[in-house]
Amino acid sequence: MKELEKISAQLIRDLCSCRDCRDEISGQRMRSVMDLSPELLVLDVAATSSGFRFTLNDKHEVELQRDTIEEILEGFSDINWRSEASKVLWDRDHAPRTVFHWSDIQEDSHDLYQLLDQLLVYGFALVENLPVRDRAVIDLIHRFGYERVTNYGDIFDVRVENNPNNLAFTNLAIAPHTDNPYRDPVPTIQALHCLESSVTGGNSGLVDGFRAAHLLREENPDAFDILSNSLFNFEYRNPTTYLSASAPIIKVDVTGEIIEVRWNDRSMQAPISEIQVDIVYDALRSFAILVNDARNCHTFKLNTGDCVIFDNTRTLHARTAFDSGGKRHLQGAYADLDSAISKHAILEEMLEA
Ligand SMILES: [Fe+2]
Ligand SMILES: [Zn+2]
Repeated sequence: MKELEKISAQLIRDLCSCRDCRDEISGQRMRSVMDLSPELLVLDVAATSSGFRFTLNDKHEVELQRDTIEEILEGFSDINWRSEASKVLWDRDHAPRTVFHWSDIQEDSHDLYQLLDQLLVYGFALVENLPVRDRAVIDLIHRFGYERVTNYGDIFDVRVENNPNNLAFTNLAIAPHTDNPYRDPVPTIQALHCLESSVTGGNSGLVDGFRAAHLLREENPDAFDILSNSLFNFEYRNPTTYLSASAPIIKVDVTGEIIEVRWNDRSMQAPISEIQVDIVYDALRSFAILVNDARNCHTFKLNTGDCVIFDNTRTLHARTAFDSGGKRHLQGAYADLDSAISKHAILEEMLEA
């Protein structure tokens, strides 16, 4: 009981779930912080069968469950799926090799949960046997969420084009990068489905950007500070589109945890506004060396029917050059992490029940 005296009367009042305070159906709060008085006091506490009843000096009685009291006293906070604190970092030798099968994740299942869990914890997952047809990548995204439509459309084709408006649509090698850093907000998930692959080369690579950032913080904290505390500009232009966004290369949250990496040689603008620009280039180069180190890159061949799905705020993707003899056709789509996190939570509850 002595412990309960530590709990703020305003917090207790705010947590009240009676009909006057919370909507019964939605659970949404029906009062504002302006209704909370700094003069609130707890006058009396009584044990109930499931927790405690607090009587306040505004004559309101608030019942709190024992679980809620424990969470308050322990300083509980929900897992943040965007933070490095919820991740397992990997290099070439420690990237997960699990392959998921489309037939197993077509319905709400343990396999779909495992796929989303790997996407959230490791930043990518590989699915095989996704039907080789137009727009099948959208069917995969609809297992947990919604496609994000951009100026590229709801899907985009990655294949060799004449007069390509993006180097992705050539047979050149593409260094590890995150997509669409010139967008605000960036698409937080990307899926790439292989519809045709008969080329030599054109291997796919994935790099854990959080691990690269983590290594930079250990090896070169000054460079980490520059990349996380300066704004870099990213741009994309064509005759009908002019996208531009400014962001740190490495974003950290208020507790200093890494929560996002934005990296793309093709669309990052020269840091013209930086006064000590040579120091900035040193920092960028230090990070680039980690990002491009083959020991950090999980390399594999996407075969026809394979689909790789990854966290575009963490996992950088790359491909090697390929010969122009055969054909290589990927179809991609963007989606967002919030719905993947939601589906993961709902499936977790369902599977526990
Ligand atoms: Fe890309
Ligand atoms: Zn109430």
